[in-house]
This record gives sequence, structure tokens and C-alpha cells, in this order.
Amino acid sequence: MKHDPQSPYYSELGRLSFSPGWARPEPSMWPVPKPKFRPAVWRFAAAKRALDQSGALVPAEQTERRNLILVNPIEGNTYATTRHLVAAYQCVLPGDTARTHRHSAAALRLVLKGKPGTYTVVDGARVDMAPGDVVLTPSWSWHGHANESDETSYWIDFLDIPFIQLNEAMFFEPHPSEALEPVTAKGKSSMRFPSAEALGPGTDAKTVEVGKGVMPTIALHLLRQPKGGRVDAPKSTTNIIYAVVSGKARITPEGGAAETLDPGDVMAMPCWYAHSIEALEDTVVFRVSDEPILTKLGLARSQTH
Ligand SMILES: [Fe+2]
Repeated sequence: MKHDPQSPYYSELGRLSFSPGWARPEPSMWPVPKPKFRPAVWRFAAAKRALDQSGALVPAEQTERRNLILVNPIEGNTYATTRHLVAAYQCVLPGDTARTHRHSAAALRLVLKGKPGTYTVVDGARVDMAPGDVVLTPSWSWHGHANESDETSYWIDFLDIPFIQLNEAMFFEPHPSEALEPVTAKGKSSMRFPSAEALGPGTDAKTVEVGKGVMPTIALHLLRQPKGGRVDAPKSTTNIIYAVVSGKARITPEGGAAETLDPGDVMAMPCWYAHSIEALEDTVVFRVSDEPILTKLGLARSQTH
């Protein structure tokens, strides 16, 4: 029987919510990953300009939403940066607070710009934020932000929201105070990782993982390369978001155009794209990936030639 979706046979199947396995519009399995997401770049300079112009557009009660989401430019996508993760540029104006809340999605931020006086309150502990810091807010931890300095602070948020949505496991709760949670904990928070401290002195090639195991879905690595250094990453099932912390990096996906990235610039590198990262100056790159998800599920796989 020829596959005519209008035929009585096939329309009856459709009415019964059946789809004939012999006439699928596209196969459901294939030999190697064929990512729908694609390598894409976002520039901090452009984001900063747009955020600086957003002043009056953001309602006063939504100051925690002064952000720009990095939407991977593939058809039908309105949110995710890579398959499981989303990134956003966010700013907090002087004197602004972002009310405390918690959610089942895990989040972290890489601080790009700001003066002392900007901080996140994580489960009652004050976590000061300085450029180059990585600040973690694991799943279901209370967090809110404040900027008591006289300059706007900027950072990049990274969250596993697309993964949580895919799993239909989203929970969200505003803090009962409906404001920034007061600081109640004493001592240093374990959720702050200054990149310079994590890497130690020097400019030699080095990769360090920060916050290992704190978040079950996201792995964080700082990649340092001296000028002229190069890292080659094979095809792998891991989906990566890169952000330049300092220096200048040239990232080239297999079969794609080389992109030169300045501090604060972001590049999405979906699974199964071999790629190289070259340091055009002494450079530190932040690598945010869904590697723990793939590893836990037995799906971590890479192809080396
Ligand atoms: Fe949040």
C-alpha cells in the first residue's frame, strides 16, 4: 500500500494515535550523533550594549530578569544554547537586587565585570562576586543577588533548564520573604571559585575542574593556554559552552569557520563537532558542559582518529 496520509487506512491510524513504523518521515536511529544544535557565537560587547539600553524596558518588579538568553539559532528553538544547557548575559544595576528564589534547575555564573559590593546570597551565605569568579547555586539552593556598588555588574548565567524541562522535573519557589534573603550564615561560602585562584600563578597550559561533583548535571573546567597554545577536542557526545575569561581564543569547529573570541564572548559547541581552541594571547577559557549527564547514563563517547 502506497503511503498516502490522506488514505482512509492511514487517517484511521492517525486518529488512533498510531504512526506506521514503515513510513516514518525520518528515521529514529542513526549510526552516529547528528546534532540539531550548531556551533554559534555571542559577543559580550553586543550584549552589554543591549543590556545597557534595556533600562526602562524591564519592569521594576522583574529586575532579576535583566538578562539576554543565548538562543542557539536553529529552527524551532526559542531558548536553549545547547541541548541540555542555556546561557544568558545578565546585569544588575547599582542598587538593584534580584529576589531570592530556588529551583530544581542547577545554575552558575561567570562574573565578567563589576566592582566590589556585588554579591549573591546562597542559602543564607554571602558570596562576593568579582570578575573571573565562578559562583554556583546547585539545584534547590536559595539564591538572590545584590549590587551595592556604584557600577553595573555583568555576568553569564549557565543553567541546566533545557534538561530539567526535558525531564519534566521543574520546580520553582520564590523565597517567603519575597525579597533578597537576609545573610544569616557566617564564614566563607564553598560556592565561590575565583578562576585565578583555581588555576594558580603562571601562564602554562593547565586544565582544572572547579566545583567537581557539586552539580550532578554540569561540569566546569578552566582551560589555560599560553600564547600559541592549542587544544584539540575530538568528536564527543558532550555538549559544551565556552566563554573566554581572559585573553583571546580562536575556536574552530570541524568543517566550520574559525571564531576569534574576546573576554566575555561565548561559543556553543554541540556534540560530535571536533574542534580546536587556540590561544592568540595568554588565555583562560571557561568550559561548561553536560558531561556528567552523559557519563552517568553510560552515553559518554568520543571518537579519536
Ligand atoms: Fe535562579
